[in-house]
Amino acid sequence: MNRSRSAFPKDFLWGGAIAANQAEGAWDADGKGPSIADVCRGGIISGVADERVEPGKYYPSHEAIDFYHRYQEDVAMFAEMGFTLFRTSINWSRIFPKGDESEPNEAGLAFYDNLFDELLKYGIQPMVTISHYETPLHLATEYGGWENRKLIGFFSRFCETIFKRYKDKVKYWMTFNEINNMHKIPFAAGACRIDEGPDKVRRIYQASHNMFVANAKAVKLGKEIMPDNQVGCMLSLSAFYPNTCHPDDVFEAYEFRRRSLFYSDVMLRGHYPAYMNRVFEEFDVHLNTEPGDKELIRDHTCAFLAFSYYMSSTHKAGMPIQGTTGGVRGIDNPYLEKSSYGWAIDPKGLRYVCNELYDRYEKPLFIVENGFGDVDVIAEDGKIHDAYRIDYVRRHLIEISEALEDGCEVLGYAYWGPIDIVSAGTGEMRKRYGFIYVDKDNEGNGTLKRMRKDSFDWYKEVIASNGESLFTGGRY
Ligand code: BG6
Repeated sequence: MNRSRSAFPKDFLWGGAIAANQAEGAWDADGKGPSIADVCRGGIISGVADERVEPGKYYPSHEAIDFYHRYQEDVAMFAEMGFTLFRTSINWSRIFPKGDESEPNEAGLAFYDNLFDELLKYGIQPMVTISHYETPLHLATEYGGWENRKLIGFFSRFCETIFKRYKDKVKYWMTFNEINNMHKIPFAAGACRIDEGPDKVRRIYQASHNMFVANAKAVKLGKEIMPDNQVGCMLSLSAFYPNTCHPDDVFEAYEFRRRSLFYSDVMLRGHYPAYMNRVFEEFDVHLNTEPGDKELIRDHTCAFLAFSYYMSSTHKAGMPIQGTTGGVRGIDNPYLEKSSYGWAIDPKGLRYVCNELYDRYEKPLFIVENGFGDVDVIAEDGKIHDAYRIDYVRRHLIEISEALEDGCEVLGYAYWGPIDIVSAGTGEMRKRYGFIYVDKDNEGNGTLKRMRKDSFDWYKEVIASNGESLFTGGRY
């Protein structure tokens, strides 16, 4: 049954999300050190990652959209749209330039004070991703990233520093962006260079274990330092279906999905689930753990589950599974259209995933990434008429309303890339998500001028009506 009225509660949080490395630029300003994103010539995910910053090479993150210097103008535009939520990450190497220092960089801390104050001035709640594909480079090159347990201590120091500093400004925190992407993109998600090889899977699970301990420590620190705030986990959870009703397809799709949900199972339920025993046996995984790990993970579970949702994929038994940023590339679904980047548009899949997750965990959900990335063309009238984006967001929001009616507790919606930013997958500027256009091309040319697209006014109306305009048609 489809309802004709919005089910969004009064305190539903509306807004947008970015990651520091995809927006801020100023990659070496005010004492910041290089992060793993700063050595990527393409996107952090599919681009070539150098060992160090090579002179004369173009790295998209170095300038990005210069949010570092233009955040006041950008936040004013978010406020104009009526945002009550804005998710960004704290760029770890702005605070600890190499990652292993004992004292933080005050200039980096001051930047986020200013940014959060600016948001709060307009009544916009900041929401922070503590680590979004931007680990300090030094921790990757000198320590081997999250394969090394020493990162637990460095991460805890980072958490303690930012919790103490921003506890009165930031209520919602997330530890690792899309932590279940460790298998697909271990460099971006875990700062480890793990190539194909017999011990690949074992190494990834070891790094993941270290991250679980770090996650539990962050939750513990959060409870001690800021008892009124919440620390959650964040996963990539676009929908995943069997390609046919053949039992082999059904079970293999289920099994694959469970390899992702393993991450939220550990962080929300507080233990390694039984189904992983067989997986660990198959891949000869024997985790190096320390006394106390198990109890930490058990006693300090996350307060909410945040996730990204872009599309759905289908899977046939025996087929390889290829990753992209928004999910995995499976077999085309004949019932769905795709974006020009090949991402299947599946609004109902979002309702499905909300129900899947709420049934499993009964913990609050946060949709912290969803959006439509495509090529925008400036029309003859000098404007961008992005009806395709409006259509995508409208249909997904209607399904969130349905999920709320189903009984799912969804706290908020942060549209991905409300202002055009660098693509994590490709490093392009051309793949745009924004309601706000930024004048910059793939080679780094452009004035960086901001411009409202048609979707800007549309989203503003949705927020102002707390979702009612989705059902009444509104002006658009
Ligand atoms: C998510 C990432 O996987 O997808 C973001 O958390 C990323 O960092 C987003 O930008 C969209 O992917 P892309 O490749 O279109 O930028």
